[in-house]
Amino acid sequence: MSELISLAANGTGLVVETGPGLPRVLHWGADLGPVDEDLVLAATPGVPPSSVDTPIRLTLLPSSREGWLGRPGASGHRDGSFQHLRPELLGPVAVDGNSLSFTAADSAAGVEFHVELHLDPSGVLRVRHEVVNTGADTWTVDALRLLLPVPAHAVELLDLTGRWCRERSPQRSPFLHGLRARESRRGRTGHDATGLLVAGTDGFGFRHGEVWGVHLAWSGNHEHFAERLPEGLSLLGASELLDPGEIRLAPGESYATPWAFFVWSDQGLDGLSARLHAWMRARTSHPSTPRPVVLNTWEAVYFNHDLGRLRALADRAAEIGVERFVLDDGWFRGRRDDSAGLGDWFVDSDVWPDGLSPLVDYVRDKGMQFGLWFEPEMVNPDSDLARAHPDWLLADALPWRRQQVLNVALPAVYDYLLERLDSLVTEYRIDYIKWDHNRDLMESLTHDQTVAVYRLFDELRSRHPALEIESCSSGGARVDLGVLAHTDRVWASDTNDAVERQRIQRWMGLLIPPELVGSHVGPPEAHTTGRFAELPFRCATALFNHAGLEWDLTSLSSEELDALTAWISVYKRLRGLLHTGVTVRADHPDHGSLLHGVIGPDHAVFCYARLETSPDALPARLRFPGLDPTRRYTIRAIPELLPVSGHFVTQTPWITTGLTLSGAALTHTGLQPPLLAPSQAMLFELTPASPA
Ligand code: GLA
Repeated sequence: MSELISLAANGTGLVVETGPGLPRVLHWGADLGPVDEDLVLAATPGVPPSSVDTPIRLTLLPSSREGWLGRPGASGHRDGSFQHLRPELLGPVAVDGNSLSFTAADSAAGVEFHVELHLDPSGVLRVRHEVVNTGADTWTVDALRLLLPVPAHAVELLDLTGRWCRERSPQRSPFLHGLRARESRRGRTGHDATGLLVAGTDGFGFRHGEVWGVHLAWSGNHEHFAERLPEGLSLLGASELLDPGEIRLAPGESYATPWAFFVWSDQGLDGLSARLHAWMRARTSHPSTPRPVVLNTWEAVYFNHDLGRLRALADRAAEIGVERFVLDDGWFRGRRDDSAGLGDWFVDSDVWPDGLSPLVDYVRDKGMQFGLWFEPEMVNPDSDLARAHPDWLLADALPWRRQQVLNVALPAVYDYLLERLDSLVTEYRIDYIKWDHNRDLMESLTHDQTVAVYRLFDELRSRHPALEIESCSSGGARVDLGVLAHTDRVWASDTNDAVERQRIQRWMGLLIPPELVGSHVGPPEAHTTGRFAELPFRCATALFNHAGLEWDLTSLSSEELDALTAWISVYKRLRGLLHTGVTVRADHPDHGSLLHGVIGPDHAVFCYARLETSPDALPARLRFPGLDPTRRYTIRAIPELLPVSGHFVTQTPWITTGLTLSGAALTHTGLQPPLLAPSQAMLFELTPASPA
């Protein structure tokens, strides 16, 4: 007997038909309110010519048993013997509030599936499957996929790609018949990881269009995919990518997938981000303290660790308002460059004859927290560890940054890393770990590795509840909601070039709320690109995320230090808003400029950044999205971060005096910005004005 289950939260609705056969989603999109039984008839496809004789049912675990000839929900085998899985519903579909679960089994194959789906208060839908081997011998899991149907009017796809220093680059394609899969076999999430795979209506943008997205919360091999069959069925899905024989279940053993996050909006991409950010912020583990201003030593000193120089850096940092001092790579045994030392997590006694205490105590005495860089999963063949334990390496793969990977799933490796990290965190009362991961895993199975590393994060955090961990991976190659369930921040990219960062952060923000994304002000000439940019632009770019500095402060003029002091106080004044408000991104007509902002209950901050010149002599009006149309706002430029050069004040005198307009006028009419040079930005603060 089939029935309809209707779940709704925060404007998102999900309607599931429980049978006949396995449950299938009839509707995922807007909250429909009360649902009539006739929705089944309305949403059931016909029988196409030259097809099975009954309507094809695209269920939550689709198989050819119900006519589905796209990718199956599950596949596997028993010692190579071929078997089409034909899962059948076992028992009722359980509903508990906005959660739904059921068990399906293929008794001939000897497997049982548990399907779990939660529609959370933010409107984010999380789905996870588990497969249990109920047979008498080994069952090998080939794939277990999480997927949901999307309607035919989702005609375009958006996914992200990228590389080192250019993560999260968008690419779009039509959603055509066939399969579009974004696979990662890198053993880490990847610089090129899509994060979110989005399907949407024609021409959808940040502020318009109906969109559906999927993200897999996993840091190992994985795929996101979109599939459309000529029979009129389309879907979005994700799964862990398993190598042949990677998951072999003994009788009674089980394998659970990572969580897949499905999110819908009829307000464009900003609507997806709003739900995802709200979901993240509702977690009890979400950082709740103000995100401290960071000074990271990497681009300031690289491997040249010298106590005097680092103390001078700490002096300048404390003077300008830095709150967390992070000692990057180069502090441990034999680590004079990137060719040696990884794995030997003992303070180098040549460079640090008295240990790290002379620096740590100095930093603390200045009122700053202390953070330290590690790359626990990695090992240089030129290290005492690799020489003593060649069997601890995961594979003998091609070297990459002259390093290899440790097999963290080996208890001895896990115990060694835990002991080293734990004792250093304890000895130096480390507040923060920058946890790096600088190569792809190759020629190795990565499921157990990923699980072991998650366990290591958790064990360390349970021993040191106040410890924060940053997930860095040659910049942004390990950014996903899986790793963020065990860490507190991600490093978006190794580029501190503000032009590159504007774009990277815009797209990073699709999935990750700004308070979890590190962003640093670097030197005038970016080390990774050689591009010059003036200080206010660099500061404006870092302001919106978890801000910091990565610059040799001892080389700065007093004007530069004053400017940084002013910027840090702006950040401290605004971070409460920036890190809790709603992120908005305008679909600005000038593609060389970006307009984005954060809107809180009372006020808002926007950034207008010009990245390139434009063929237009004057810039397009700025139309500020997301404001309350009935409210009146006073808008003025943030004076501490005005561009250094240019004629903007004479062009637009209101910049300093301010203007008062309704939200409706600011959103629809907009206002004429000054002509900025490329690599300049202007920040606007909007505060409530008294009623007209
Ligand atoms: C990686 C990180 C950098 C820095 C270096 C240190 O490249 O992404 O930020 O920590 O390692 O070796």
